[in-house]
Amino acid sequence: MKFFVDSADTAAIRELNETGLVDGVTTNPSLIAKSGGNILKVVAEIAEMVEGPVSAEVTATDHATMLAEGRKLAKIAPNIAVKVPLTMDGLKTCKVLTDAGTMVNVTLCFSANQALLAAKAGATFISPFVGRLDDIGQDGMELIADIVSIYDNYDFGTEVLVASIRHPMHLLDAAKLGADVATLPPNVLTSLANHPLTDKGLKAFLDDWAKTGQSILDDTDMAEA
Ligand code: E4P
Repeated sequence: MKFFVDSADTAAIRELNETGLVDGVTTNPSLIAKSGGNILKVVAEIAEMVEGPVSAEVTATDHATMLAEGRKLAKIAPNIAVKVPLTMDGLKTCKVLTDAGTMVNVTLCFSANQALLAAKAGATFISPFVGRLDDIGQDGMELIADIVSIYDNYDFGTEVLVASIRHPMHLLDAAKLGADVATLPPNVLTSLANHPLTDKGLKAFLDDWAKTGQSILDDTDMAEA
């Protein structure tokens, strides 16, 4: 399963990227607004530091302008995935861009039929938003299960990119369903490493170790022995 970071915070992305766990990044207009930076500069900085796909979203709603924006965003770097909304204009734009060899992430997907359309339009990624479905009392993970099974039925190459992840259980459930990618807010990604028994066990090991007076890096005792 690939892990993308769902953020436009370049400092946070840089720090996470150094762990070697980051396979890509997703941004959206709200995240760019939150970063306070210029979209072209922020996306260029992220695309330079991360090797994998970096999603940059168009902000127009009509096909012609979306296409012009998408082409401009795609020119920033070879690893840009142009993000288009799941509308008929977005799908049309997706087809033109993917036919030209540009990666496209079709976003704001809330139904399996929408995901089917995105696959038929040649999308590189489909982004179903699980958290926003949960917010309105629908089961976001049921949508992921439906999309994974529909794509498997027809061998679509479009990757299922689980978006709007809010907590570790979303990730665990998506992984069990075999989703290709999860895009994680930085705090959710780092929280995956946490477990109280890890903390407790580590403290016990370190307490016992301190009693020995030994140091792995200081080998003076070995030389004397
Ligand atoms: C990523 O591609 C999406 O834009 C993002 O995951 C949406 O998350 P949110 O529903 O928490 O805003």
